[in-house]
Amino acid sequence: MDFRDMILLLHPTIAVIVMFPLIGIVVDRAAQTRQHRVQTAGEGKSKIPPSVGQEHVQFGRWLTGSVMEIVLLALAKDVIGNLVDQQAWTKSQFKFVLIVILFGVTIASLALLYRATARLWRGVFATLTGTGLVILGCQDGVYRKTSEWYVSHYYYGMAAALLMIFALAIVRDIYQDRTNRWRNVHIILNCFALLLFVGQGITGTQSLLEVPLNWQKPYVQKLYELKCDKQPCTVQPPSTPAPSVSAPPPSSPSPSAH
Ligand code: HEM
Ligand code: HEM
Repeated sequence: MDFRDMILLLHPTIAVIVMFPLIGIVVDRAAQTRQHRVQTAGEGKSKIPPSVGQEHVQFGRWLTGSVMEIVLLALAKDVIGNLVDQQAWTKSQFKFVLIVILFGVTIASLALLYRATARLWRGVFATLTGTGLVILGCQDGVYRKTSEWYVSHYYYGMAAALLMIFALAIVRDIYQDRTNRWRNVHIILNCFALLLFVGQGITGTQSLLEVPLNWQKPYVQKLYELKCDKQPCTVQPPSTPAPSVSAPPPSSPSPSAH
């Protein structure tokens, strides 16, 4: 397995080991926070300790960080991998440097969003983080699956990441707003984010099946180009000599797909 394949695997590994357990904890504390608030408002007391709200926010901050981490990791693998394939460092150094700077600015904006307290700065850094993410996601090399956007791992992932950035940006507003308007906005948006996370579990597993290992790429690209899912065909990687190790004997069939 080469370096790029290992980077590809890092993303689902972190998602499964770190992110999904975190989602479980965040949702559990969210339900308890709500129960505590409703019981206190109705009966004047609750057996649930008030600290569950703080715990929800603390784990929520970790969740936002880990979602951003795995999204940026996947985008870096796609975008920088594509630039390396195109030898952009020699052909278009400006673009290469610009992309690296954009990754830096996005990460720095997120770090500043964690520290910002004033509403203006929270707005500015949330906008910068989200814009950086969207611009990076629009670059060549990202597997967007736009024609099937309703089952696209990319679109679900970007939407979920943007919702996490927004949740982080409005924490203070949720606490300060006595009318509970921000709280209700948060509940609606993040229940939707939860559905997107479930979708990510399904579409991500599908992506693992669809994205080939690095050595398989030229063959798989040909399979798509020749529409081998709809008609019988025989594939050879473009302008590459047949691999010597797995070359079939003359009488046996060439690698084909239907
Ligand atoms: C899957 C993700 C999430 C879901 C489903 C979710 C849902 C909820 C729910 C149901 C509540 C209780 C509202 C009430 O009192 O009625 C809540 C409270 C809150 N959430 Fe989230 N949330 C999520 C992620 C986040 C994140 C990422 C942050 C910020 C980093 C965050 C910040 C807050 C804050 C500040 C409160 C108020 C806590 C309190 O009253 O002490 N949430 N959330
Ligand atoms: C909430 C969790 C997740 C988020 C926010 C997320 C987000 C993303 C994003 C934005 C991309 C880049 C777009 C693309 O190439 O499709 C991506 C790529 C990918 N994700 Fe996820 N993902 C999550 C969970 C998972 C899981 C659980 C798996 C597998 C079990 C997975 C597997 C993949 C694979 C294989 C790619 C690479 C596609 C490529 O390189 O072209 N993801 N993910």
